[in-house]
Amino acid sequence: MRALVCETLGPINSHRVQEIPDPLPGKRQVAVRVHACGVNFADTLIIQGKYQERPDLPFVPGSEVAGEVIALGEGVKGIALGQRVMALTSVGGFAEIALAAADTLIPLPDGIDFTDAAAFTVAYGTSHVALETRAQLKAGETLIINGASGGVGLTALEIGKMMGATVIGLASTEEKRALVAEHGADHVFDVADPDLRDKVKALGGADVGYDVVGGDAFNTMLRCMKFEGRLLTVGFASGEIPQVPANLLLVKNISVVGVYWGSYARNNPSVLMKSLVQLTHWLKEGQLRPHVSAVYSLDEATKGLEALANRQSVGKVVIKP
Ligand SMILES: NC(=O)c1ccc[n+]([C@@H]2O[C@H](COP(=O)([O-])OP(=O)(O)OC[C@H]3O[C@@H](n4cnc5c(N)ncnc54)[C@H](OP(=O)(O)O)[C@@H]3O)[C@@H](O)[C@H]2O)c1
Repeated sequence: MRALVCETLGPINSHRVQEIPDPLPGKRQVAVRVHACGVNFADTLIIQGKYQERPDLPFVPGSEVAGEVIALGEGVKGIALGQRVMALTSVGGFAEIALAAADTLIPLPDGIDFTDAAAFTVAYGTSHVALETRAQLKAGETLIINGASGGVGLTALEIGKMMGATVIGLASTEEKRALVAEHGADHVFDVADPDLRDKVKALGGADVGYDVVGGDAFNTMLRCMKFEGRLLTVGFASGEIPQVPANLLLVKNISVVGVYWGSYARNNPSVLMKSLVQLTHWLKEGQLRPHVSAVYSLDEATKGLEALANRQSVGKVVIKP
């Protein structure tokens, strides 16, 4: 099969598509013919050795796929050959065939195509667990999101609105802000607006913050929080890990709350599964609308990865092998 292979850690454009042997499913694994693989910011980091997890080399990046089951490993029950599924792969997705643990498969609801399905699990899963389990966002509260036009940002906006919050979306360009407004944000501001804090204060401040950027952007968010606010630290797209001025937490009874969605699979899988069942139901009902802005072939996979790394993409980018 063909796959994007990371032989040595390095710049995104140093990785090449190669012919490699088809992977064979092991115990309780299935092989999936990949029709689409979602691109996540973590994929841009993992191939450069800048992510918290470092798979053994060589490896194929790509953590969430949609496709058809083509082979069953030992001990797999209740899954049929040819079944349409979404699957979490951790690595291996940017390939014609990927392996996934049978117990992470989600049957693809009728009417949902592979492209939308590949853009679904990580982004919606992260935002749902972040807002419901970690921040315990309540109807009537105000939620502020930076990187609001990005992969996880747009899903936080959609889920925040479904949970009854007033949503403030931040983005860096007019095009991105227009998308955030179209997706239902109640207020949209330029993330670099020097008066941002005053504007958010004039709206009463934020109960919950959703920070995917880190660095200075985290500190700006912190200053927008109100009494008993909860600031979710979701990602560091800026590349800078923020330092928390604890005096601000003390003065306003603010909590900074960590979010690492993938770690629920190891530490508390029931939270993850309950959330995915709910999200898949909403997807089936048409209440969630994955926003895929660009589709690339496998040969162009590094272009898709670079679009995220260079802050050029909106919504989700998908690779179709
Ligand atoms: N904790 C978890 O479980 C979890 C799960 C999924 C993702 N994440 C993290 O969440 C972050 C966002 O992921 P994503 O998939 O939504 O990525 P994405 O689609 O590329 O969105 C990232 C957003 O961050 C903003 N940004 C600010 N500075 C940036 C920079 N220097 N480079 C790139 N973007 C920058 C951009 O919006 P503006 O241009 O409008 O500022 C962009 O829309 C990443 O750090 C990712 O690792 C964490």
